[in-house]
Amino acid sequence: MNEAKNCQWRVARRPEGNVVRKDFEYMEIDIPDIQDGEVLLKTLYLNLAPVMRMYMSGESAAGEQSLDIGDVIHGRGVAEIIESKHSDYKEGEIVQGQMGWQTYKASKMTDKEKFRKIPDMGAPYSLGLSLLGMTGLSAYFGYFSHGNPNRGETVVISGAAGGVGSTVVQFAKMLDCYVIGIAGGEEKCNFIESLGCDESIDYKSGDIVNRIKEAAPNGIDLYFDNVGGDILSACMENLAMNSRIVHCGSISEYLLDEPFGLKNYTNLRRTNSSLKGFFIYNHLHEIDSAEEQLVRWIKDEKIKSVEHVVDGFMSMPEGLAQLYDGSNHGVALCQVRHCTYSD
Ligand SMILES: NC(=O)c1ccc[n+]([C@@H]2O[C@H](COP(=O)([O-])OP(=O)(O)OC[C@H]3O[C@@H](n4cnc5c(N)ncnc54)[C@H](OP(=O)(O)O)[C@@H]3O)[C@@H](O)[C@H]2O)c1
Repeated sequence: MNEAKNCQWRVARRPEGNVVRKDFEYMEIDIPDIQDGEVLLKTLYLNLAPVMRMYMSGESAAGEQSLDIGDVIHGRGVAEIIESKHSDYKEGEIVQGQMGWQTYKASKMTDKEKFRKIPDMGAPYSLGLSLLGMTGLSAYFGYFSHGNPNRGETVVISGAAGGVGSTVVQFAKMLDCYVIGIAGGEEKCNFIESLGCDESIDYKSGDIVNRIKEAAPNGIDLYFDNVGGDILSACMENLAMNSRIVHCGSISEYLLDEPFGLKNYTNLRRTNSSLKGFFIYNHLHEIDSAEEQLVRWIKDEKIKSVEHVVDGFMSMPEGLAQLYDGSNHGVALCQVRHCTYSD
């Protein structure tokens, strides 16, 4: 990475299957000058999220415009304001918002970019992309607002070792639930048990329908779905009466040419159950109060951030590929620059 330039990753071609280095184009351009009403942002961290492959495929996802070949890839980041001609922002403030895959950005801080100041909590600013970013907030609104959770119930969480999943595991344990996490491989299963899961299921080995039945003999009260596909179908076979499914994501389907096509949804009717989707950007008006609650829990050490940190801007393409081959634990993000925070 060249510190004297604005370094960028752009779409070189549409990915087929998982992303590979040739799908990305690396560019160095001049660091922008700012005009009145703008700030100059210097990137500290960038988020890596499954949705970024959709952007690269030309899909208009997560409220962002679709990308053409040659466009800078969308992505949220944490940045320091190093120059300001904007009345609401001062030099030295740390913000998170739509940075794109680049090392500097001139911004008018528009509503569309959804910038927020990150509270200085004496903790690394990467929290702005993990627990206090869209990942933690998705877990928060998905579980508490859409899951209608009850204390002590049986909760199943897929993608449990990922960013959203590892946070929901911790929320469900705060409510003394019996938590069954689903993840790929023995090592990840050990990891989610260390986070608090009462049982773990490795979806890559054995019959998932029966393994869930054994772990939840009285059925699932709440299934938090990060993956869709076969695992959603297996949970549908194991619903308790009046159960709830929160549809957060469907990463197992993102690389398919055709949608999965769930066949057993009629089990919802038999069990008086519901399946409810949600989209984090429909909750923007409630973020302040959610953030206050999350900050309290972090300070009280009730929840902790689980981060998978990719080192250096040049590793962004491989970092994105890792989400689809499952090598990340927790929220995947890239440390673009080393930064300090006040203790
Ligand atoms: N509704 C919303 O507003 C919203 C907001 C944020 C995220 N999301 C969605 O929520 C989900 C989780 O997001 P995240 O940021 O937490 O993701 P993440 O940290 O990138 O986790 C992704 C994990 O999914 C698992 N995975 C990958 N392919 C899989 C497959 N074929 N079958 C089963 N598991 C698979 C992998 O773990 P294993 O090794 O265990 O397979 C991987 O580590 C994604 O689907 C994302 O699109 C939705």
